[in-house]
Amino acid sequence: MQIFLDTANVDEIRESLELGIVSGVTTNPSLVAKENNNDFFSLVKTISELVPGPVSAEVIAIDAVGMIAEAEKLADISENVVIKIPMTAEGLKAVRVLSLQGINTNVTLVFSLNQAILAARAGATYVSPFIGRLDDVGYDGMSLVKDIVSVFKTYELKTQVIAASVRHPMHVINAAKAGSHIATIPYKILMQMIEHPITTIGIDKFLADWEKAKATKE
Ligand code: G3P
Repeated sequence: MQIFLDTANVDEIRESLELGIVSGVTTNPSLVAKENNNDFFSLVKTISELVPGPVSAEVIAIDAVGMIAEAEKLADISENVVIKIPMTAEGLKAVRVLSLQGINTNVTLVFSLNQAILAARAGATYVSPFIGRLDDVGYDGMSLVKDIVSVFKTYELKTQVIAASVRHPMHVINAAKAGSHIATIPYKILMQMIEHPITTIGIDKFLADWEKAKATKE
């Protein structure tokens, strides 16, 4: 499973890229708004230059014509920019046109298998089921990921699944077990994934033993 970072924060992206495990970045209007950056296009440009992989940037328009116009401008920034399109009828129309133009898309706000199938049939490069938001309203977000992965496999649909709205490390483990192609992860959760209490205890013990052995030799 590939790891994408779910953030629009340039420092978090720089830090995570140094770890050598981040294959892409996803943003959304809420994440971009948190950055207090008035120039969305220059932020997308900065991120797309930093990241050697797909960078999802979302359109704001809600009609297909407007979405396509925004998407074309965003796609012009760099080849690795992926256009995030909300899962609506207008969104599907836009995905169809963009896919025919060779522009990669990530259909977002996916909450059902039917929505995922439609997005794939329209030509989406990625679909993003939102696990955490489904869990929030009493549905099992992970079983949606499993269903999408299995149906896409059955019908040999090329669209890749991005497990999104990841809220804790168990979501990442279960997304990997479900066969999700990608999990997009907030920086804080990525840091939590690195930590294990027994690793820390183990390092402390190795260092203590080393120092003890050094002291007895002196
Ligand atoms: O990028 C979309 C998604 O990951 C948002 O997550 O936590 O706002 O539901 P969240």
